[in-house]
Amino acid sequence: MTEHRSSEWYAGTDRNAYIHRAWMRRGLPENAFDGRPHIAIANTASDLTPCNAHLNEVMESVKAGIFEAGGIPLNLPVVSLGETQVRPTAMLWRNMAAMATEEMLRANPIDGVVLLGGCDKTIPSLLMAAASVDLPAIVVPGGPMKTGTFQGVPLGCGTDVWRLSEEVRAGTLSEEQFLKSESSMISSRGHCNTMGTASTMALVAEALGTIIPGLAGTSAVDSRLLEQSHETGRLIVDLVEADRRPSSFLTKGSFRNAIVALAAIGGSTNAVVHLLAIAGRLGIDLTLDDFDAIGSGVPLLVDLQPAGRFLMDDFQRAGGLLSVLREVQDLLDPTALTVTGRPLVDALGSARIWDHEVIRVRETPLIPDAGIAVLRGNLAPDGAIIKPAAASAHLLSHRGRAVVFDSIEDLHARIDDPDLDVDADSILVLRGCGPRGYPGMPEVANMPLPKKLLEQGLRDMVRICDGRMSGTAYGTVVLHVTPEAAAGGPLGIVQTGDWITLDVPNRTLDLDVDPDELDRRRPDRATADGFANPRRGWERLYVDHVMQADTGADLDFLRGSSGDRVSRESH
Ligand code: FES
Ligand code: MG
Repeated sequence: MTEHRSSEWYAGTDRNAYIHRAWMRRGLPENAFDGRPHIAIANTASDLTPCNAHLNEVMESVKAGIFEAGGIPLNLPVVSLGETQVRPTAMLWRNMAAMATEEMLRANPIDGVVLLGGCDKTIPSLLMAAASVDLPAIVVPGGPMKTGTFQGVPLGCGTDVWRLSEEVRAGTLSEEQFLKSESSMISSRGHCNTMGTASTMALVAEALGTIIPGLAGTSAVDSRLLEQSHETGRLIVDLVEADRRPSSFLTKGSFRNAIVALAAIGGSTNAVVHLLAIAGRLGIDLTLDDFDAIGSGVPLLVDLQPAGRFLMDDFQRAGGLLSVLREVQDLLDPTALTVTGRPLVDALGSARIWDHEVIRVRETPLIPDAGIAVLRGNLAPDGAIIKPAAASAHLLSHRGRAVVFDSIEDLHARIDDPDLDVDADSILVLRGCGPRGYPGMPEVANMPLPKKLLEQGLRDMVRICDGRMSGTAYGTVVLHVTPEAAAGGPLGIVQTGDWITLDVPNRTLDLDVDPDELDRRRPDRATADGFANPRRGWERLYVDHVMQADTGADLDFLRGSSGDRVSRESH
């Protein structure tokens, strides 16, 4: 047996080893300290993260697998982020959760870790932590909830909240019925069952190689989740024995596979900032432009809400991620490995599509080119993104006059004003919502359309913002504009009435204002006023150190890895 990291705590006859062992002998037998691997289960189960509340049961299955393989499993509750509960936005705490988990894994006598996540930010923060402590790690995604129904119709969690509330406004659903649907929306344990950020990140993490192939997307209520959790417990012990750390098998090719998967499933734009942040922890040179270069030409094969019709239950029944990846196998890196030690592409041989309505074959895609487009120009010198699959085709090349809002509050106050000077060709601009300006970079980019235009039947307009948008949302939305207004980006000097040209086929976003005029505006742009200026605590640290969206909105001092070494004893 190779010497494990935990032996630095437990081996020997001196006082310190005695202390480390004695306090852990709460039911553990003496041979628990004979050099076998000690495995943490980083567990985001929390009553305040309803999507992850079932992970304690998953943890028991992982534990059983670890014991069976000769390891010692240790439950490690870590910071958990419930997307619907946490204010002002769960994204503000993603880097904090990652930092806390990283430090606790390093500080403790741990040889490897199983990462239990689900709700939007939990898998990204766990992977960032695992990358920076660089201990052998495997993700178990908690899985989507089963499909619930209301009045005989399936409910898409998240997406249908917007639909039903619009029906109330339109007078086609009573408030009483609306409130009745509340108890059907979350039909079971598990995360949102649309192709929102949680489903996206589980599938993308599998394409990256950090999950046993075939597991991501398995429903939270499916027995196979527990079976594969047990299997993951056995596998993590092998990983420790093989010393297979994230740095040893995650490569640029792994990220290529994740980006191909993201496009083919029509996944959330939030995956862009998460993948950039994870790559940054690994020291892998992944750039915003890679999403465009690798994703362009990848077809959209999955017909799931919010862009399409079906839900995650249907996706799994139709063949799941491996059947999608098999269709685009020629675009994948054949050398990229998974936690099993074998290439991802080796897992695709037996995958089949069982329902061609839900998952399309390569020859008949929903959209032939579904990759995220990266735009540049004098309005976004460091880049902005748009998801063409979720946009209106006729707006992808568009010139219009800006209607500018300085904050989300400003937008809410004026958007429905009948006197607002706006028409269908206008471009709505919302600034002050980047990582620094509105700490955490909230999901507000898909701003509501003016009521008077909605009443005329308008359903989409070009919108431009330095914030993010929900994985369950869609529209012709240019988001993650970098640098953000609060970092001195040109978005801060746009004025209402300026002409803006969006040209997605040519990947440009430009403000059509004379350069001399732009120079004149720069000195008096208001960067300090109106943007966040927290006095203390995490928000202060965040605002001082958060990087821009084009590099993943991580904190500057958290990039890279510190490894698993701790230099000093505790006594
Ligand atoms: Fe948790 Fe949607 S709120 S995944
Ligand atoms: Mg979300």
